[in-house]
Amino acid sequence: MAVNCDIPDALIVALRDARHICILTGAGVSAESGVPTFREAQDGLWAKHDPHDLATPDAFLADPVLVWRWYRWRRDLVAEAEPNPGHHAIARLAELVPRLTLVTQNVDNMHQRAGSRDVIEFHGNIFEDRCFADGSLQVGDPTTAVPMCSECGSHLRPGVVWFGESIPEQALHESCAAASDCDVFLSIGTSSLVYPAAGLADLARQNGATVAEVNPNPTMHAGSFDYALAGNSGVVLPELVNCLAV
Ligand code: APR
Repeated sequence: MAVNCDIPDALIVALRDARHICILTGAGVSAESGVPTFREAQDGLWAKHDPHDLATPDAFLADPVLVWRWYRWRRDLVAEAEPNPGHHAIARLAELVPRLTLVTQNVDNMHQRAGSRDVIEFHGNIFEDRCFADGSLQVGDPTTAVPMCSECGSHLRPGVVWFGESIPEQALHESCAAASDCDVFLSIGTSSLVYPAAGLADLARQNGATVAEVNPNPTMHAGSFDYALAGNSGVVLPELVNCLAV
């Protein structure tokens, strides 16, 4: 049984018995790394810009130079941050259980830098360049104002999902399949306001999984989850992993 930890024993037992754990993370898991959400990031010369006016296909077509300048600025911000103990705990958890599926709404590549593999990225990855025409993964010239696709000559775009765009089909399919199959679902650092990501916990619950959230500010779903661990993921997750590892 769990010793010296505040994680409910029954949750530790459920995790220990789980054949498959599914985790959904949001911006909160990167908060302790100092990664600003793009709303928080709007300071200095970007203060006058609303992210909704920059993170859209129309904004890119209207002014690709401005949009690339914004994303390169954000890439530098994120690259300066480091994965925190919460990211590392999730990577460690994958070694302790038979199967772990990690779905993230974040584009900051922090889970991968902490050692997590096969991360399902609901909103893409800010460090990727993709062809604007066909979405293929490309390598853009970082020295040009608007990098071009070496295969078709179109503009390249940052590899993130913009407002008004749909979630990548494979990411959605794999996430729903994992939520439907898992024995335990952990919703970590997300306000659970943006669908379809916010619907994954319900899918897990409908399929009999134990559902827990980790968030210092209990979300509107907390009451319907089995457990709502009110704390910072950088503190709660290492504790949860330590309880499991004993
Ligand atoms: N540990 C855990 N959770 C935290 C921490 C922390 N240290 N700090 C903050 N949080 C929680 C907040 O209480 C909040 O509920 O993280 C959540 C972050 O919520 P949002 O900022 O809404 O981020 P997210 O849920 O990822 O948003 C989903 O919406 O903004 C769009 O595309 C964007 O991917 C994003 C999506």
